[in-house]
Amino acid sequence: MNQHLVRSHAKAVRIRPFRIGSPFMTRKILVTSALPYANGSIHLGHLVEYIQTDIWVRFHKMQADTQCHYVCADDTHGTPIMLRAEKEGITPQQLIDKTHGEHLRDFTGFHVGFDNYYSTNSEENKTLAQGIYRKLRDEAKLIETKTIEQFYDPEKQMFLPDRFIKGECPKCHALDQYGDNCEVCGASYTPTDLINPYSAVSGAKPVRKESEHYFFKLGDEKCRQFLEAWTQAGYLQDEAANKMKEWFAAGLQNWDISRDAPYFGFEIPDAPGKYFYVWLDAPVGYMASFANLATRKGLDFDEYWLDDSATELYHFIGKDILYFHALFWPAMLKFAGYRTPTKIFAHGFLTVDGQKMSKSRGTFITAESYLQQGLNPEWLRYYYAAKLNGSMEDIDLNLGDFVARVNSDLVGKYINIASRTAGFITKRFEGKLSKELPSSELLDELRSADTWHRIGVLYADREYGKAVREIMRLVDAANQYVDEQKPWDLAKVSTYSQAEGKLHQVCSLCINLFRLLTIYLRPILPKLAADVQGFLNLAEDDMRWNQNKALFNGHPINPYQHLMTRVEQKQIDALLAANKQTLETPKPDAHSQARHAEKQTHAVAPPPLPSPAGEVNWISIDDFSKIDLRIAKIVNAEHVEGAEKLLKLTLDIGEEKPRTVFAGIKSAYDPAQLVGRLTVMVANLAPRKMKFGMSEGMVLAASGEGPGLYILSPDSGAQAGMRVK
Ligand code: 2FM
Ligand code: ZN
Repeated sequence: MNQHLVRSHAKAVRIRPFRIGSPFMTRKILVTSALPYANGSIHLGHLVEYIQTDIWVRFHKMQADTQCHYVCADDTHGTPIMLRAEKEGITPQQLIDKTHGEHLRDFTGFHVGFDNYYSTNSEENKTLAQGIYRKLRDEAKLIETKTIEQFYDPEKQMFLPDRFIKGECPKCHALDQYGDNCEVCGASYTPTDLINPYSAVSGAKPVRKESEHYFFKLGDEKCRQFLEAWTQAGYLQDEAANKMKEWFAAGLQNWDISRDAPYFGFEIPDAPGKYFYVWLDAPVGYMASFANLATRKGLDFDEYWLDDSATELYHFIGKDILYFHALFWPAMLKFAGYRTPTKIFAHGFLTVDGQKMSKSRGTFITAESYLQQGLNPEWLRYYYAAKLNGSMEDIDLNLGDFVARVNSDLVGKYINIASRTAGFITKRFEGKLSKELPSSELLDELRSADTWHRIGVLYADREYGKAVREIMRLVDAANQYVDEQKPWDLAKVSTYSQAEGKLHQVCSLCINLFRLLTIYLRPILPKLAADVQGFLNLAEDDMRWNQNKALFNGHPINPYQHLMTRVEQKQIDALLAANKQTLETPKPDAHSQARHAEKQTHAVAPPPLPSPAGEVNWISIDDFSKIDLRIAKIVNAEHVEGAEKLLKLTLDIGEEKPRTVFAGIKSAYDPAQLVGRLTVMVANLAPRKMKFGMSEGMVLAASGEGPGLYILSPDSGAQAGMRVK
């Protein structure tokens, strides 16, 4: 392991993810979310990442000893954006400008608080990307050229990325499938495997044509060694590091970083007519956005990006782009003399009601439509937070659960603490909190360093679901206190008395609890927290993390105004209706649609795609439960005259009459061997008329590459007729 690795590894271990009352100097943190493409709308799938990052950023910004910057940008280059602009009859820059406005509007609508939202089509990005390339070429000697052959559209006179070649699937023969994988049967292949390929741009038959390409030599020994160590040195989640091992095992290949004109992007220095592949300059966009912010805010770019940086750099990404961020990006940075990321945090995909987002079901919900329908963005922030953890697992937006949870947790419980008590302060005590508070274990718990720390660590670890549960436990305790003290009963006395003094103190205590709970929820609910800050007349410092002050001494508050309404089912119905589109051709989920739009051959053997549109054809539990699997007793098995592969089985599945099933297992079983055995059958497969008679179901058998066939056997104790679920 070389010097650098030893050093950066030590650095990674030394960094403490979260601390309170630290004696150390201020932490300086730079955080990014993935850059959305400039040719599509932001939807609820995207928002998982931006909300996840924003919560993390807001949490860190609440720490007194931390300076945190959050940058992002639109990812503007590449063939799809070029062609899209052409189709709309505008220039790429016009498309980029239009989308930039829309994206920023949507993110702002969901309270995603970037410090800078920039563009990869910027001067800063060009200078940085070209500078990195020059260092890789001249100093690290990691660039080489090679002539390769690719599909070319002779009509449009351009090389075609895989996604722009369509044709018949070589496996299931579905028509109009993309050049990388079939959306009908899920098979993965290369465009050369397609039957009757055609250009999706012009319809012309593609020809093969040679051209010189520029490669980043990832396979070079020093690069490979660096990456193999870096990916296992604690900068990635464990599951991501394991995925890397699989990819390394398959072998690292050099990365093709050039594209031929016409291409919308940055020209490669000293290579006329050649452009950087969009994925080369996209992550450099993180640097460029920060450079732009640094100029405006007087920050020191080098302090954050040079090799010896003592600052921290965190990238939030979806698991589908791990490859780019955990291999290409650190290698680019390292060998161009920059620092590498402190951590890369990958998250899973969003499903809606257990299924991929779908235009025909109306669950492909855009951020714009959600806001336009008048739904509160903080409902979604809360719901996502309640579902998120630090892993790469997918999260499900269950719409029924969404309604129930928001209404019960936020409106029914949390807001309720203020709405049941603040009115008394205003009406009976001139809007002032009492000078003293009753002693309260709950207040002590909410103010204790231990509670701040425990919940803080959950936020820092992106275990938001656990943080929410912990906070809701405290919310429940506060409500229990209100229920026990019954301020409405205490309020029945009209003149000053002991009861009225108690009413004042009880309600003041509740307002204090409410303030502390609001601080705990503030990273998730920033708008609501700001409203509470106004309502309780609080200074910014009163809203920081670990803020233990209790508000006594007659602190004045403002009259309570409604803080949050309930979600109505009819709002959800209207949202689905607004997003419903008919005539949907089967498409992969939005992530992979956008992300693989310009997919190219990976630098190692193709990694198993972790997306729902990958090799696994996901089905919902509802789909699965449609299959009636039963334990079947084979009461008879015999050869079928004239049938090469079939055996005729008589199966008892606990029905009055046994079923007849023709099974293609003759090559593997002697009928006599089977009689009396238990196996598994699909009992509700529609009966099929076969040449030899009616087949009333199907027996399941395993098979692999070789000729072997193996029917299933249940564990002992299973009885004929039992359901398998
Ligand atoms: O997958 C995507 O949507 C890309 N536009 C993400 C780029 S992230 C970064 F590397 F720029
Ligand atoms: Zn197919």
